[in-house]
Parts: sequence; C-alpha cells; structure tokens
Amino acid sequence: MKNVAVLLSGRGSNFIALAEAIKQKEILAEIVAVISNRSNSTGLNYARTKGYPTWLIPSRGKSREAFDQEVASRLKTTGTEIVCLAGFMRILSPLFVQMFPQRILNIHPSLLPSFPGLHAQRQAIEWGAKISGGTVHFVDEKLDHGPIILQQSVPIMDDDDENSLSERILDIEHKIYPEALRLICRNLIKIEGRKVLRLD
Ligand code: GRF
Repeated sequence: MKNVAVLLSGRGSNFIALAEAIKQKEILAEIVAVISNRSNSTGLNYARTKGYPTWLIPSRGKSREAFDQEVASRLKTTGTEIVCLAGFMRILSPLFVQMFPQRILNIHPSLLPSFPGLHAQRQAIEWGAKISGGTVHFVDEKLDHGPIILQQSVPIMDDDDENSLSERILDIEHKIYPEALRLICRNLIKIEGRKVLRLD
C-alpha cells in the first residue's frame, strides 16, 4: 500500500478516476491527502463529501516557496509517498520537487513534448495537428518535462473545438492516469535517464 496525495485546483475529474480505481482495489494505494489551493474547487468539495482527508491551502499572496513549504509540511505529516498532480494550476518550486524525487506525477492533455503549458488542446488545434492525446509523466524541475510514464493518442477532427477535443482527451486521461499509478504502486516500472521502462 502506498500513501498517495492528490493536489488539485479545479474540477477534479482525474482525482475521481484515481479515487475510484483505488476504491475498486485496482491500485494498491490509500489517498491520505487531497489538497487544493482554491476554495471553489469542485474536486476538493467532492473529496470532502466523500470523507477523504482534505486541506485548503490558499496560494494567493504567498511566495512560491512559502506555499510549497506549507504543502510539503502537510504531505510529510500525512506520510505521503507519492504525489499526484491532477489539474493543479501551480508550478512547483525545485525545492518541492527535490523533496519527492521521482515521486510526483502529472497528467497533461497533449502528447508531450508537443504543446506543453496552458491550453494544450487549443494549441494542438491551432497548430493543425491531426492527433493529440494525454501524457502521464514524472515531474521534474522544468514544466511538463519529466520522464514519460504513459501516453495515449486521440484523433483531432476537422470540426473539433477546444471543448470537443478536451472531452475526447479527458476520456483517455481517466484511463492512463490510474494505470500509471497502478504500475508505480506495484513497482512495475524503473527509470533510466529519460526512459521509463516497464518491468511486467
Ligand atoms: C486535465 O485536462 C489535465 O490533463 C490537466 O488539467 C485538467 C484537469 O482536469 N492537467 P480535472 O480537474 O482532473 O477534471
């Protein structure tokens, strides 16, 4: 059993996908903390109503380091081993990343290294790409940059807009994020440089 914390800022559909897979015992993990930096996060409210240990840690008006330190302290007290970013709209400081080396995961709505950053789906459409997808990766000190754990592609249709493509990608996000966490909790991957190798 691995102790997992989820950091989110908004809707929380990826959190729900992870929580469901854990509840179904597909993933050998326990969610020991759900932390949001935004009070109006529907993901945080969902976690509250379902009885998960939740914390609102506002980020506004704090330096990056001060906020990260607050989050890190909370993670330490909950015995967090793995951190899942799930729509967490903050860039983490190098100090925070170094506290959980190769133990922070993120999901990004494009096939990295294409279209990092905000509005990845819109970027893909505007570029005229014919496929996009989702990426689960380890977090390192650069944005949307760490070793890739899993990716899955989806087609981009001529009549797609940001919403329709986001929905198509979200569907596969909800599959690859739980699968990536499952592999990690079962120690079924190893990292060699930029490469994440599967041991199963
Ligand atoms: C997802 O598209 C994820 O890839 C990105 O932020 C969005 C979060 O959605 N990092 P949700 O809050 O999990 O529903």
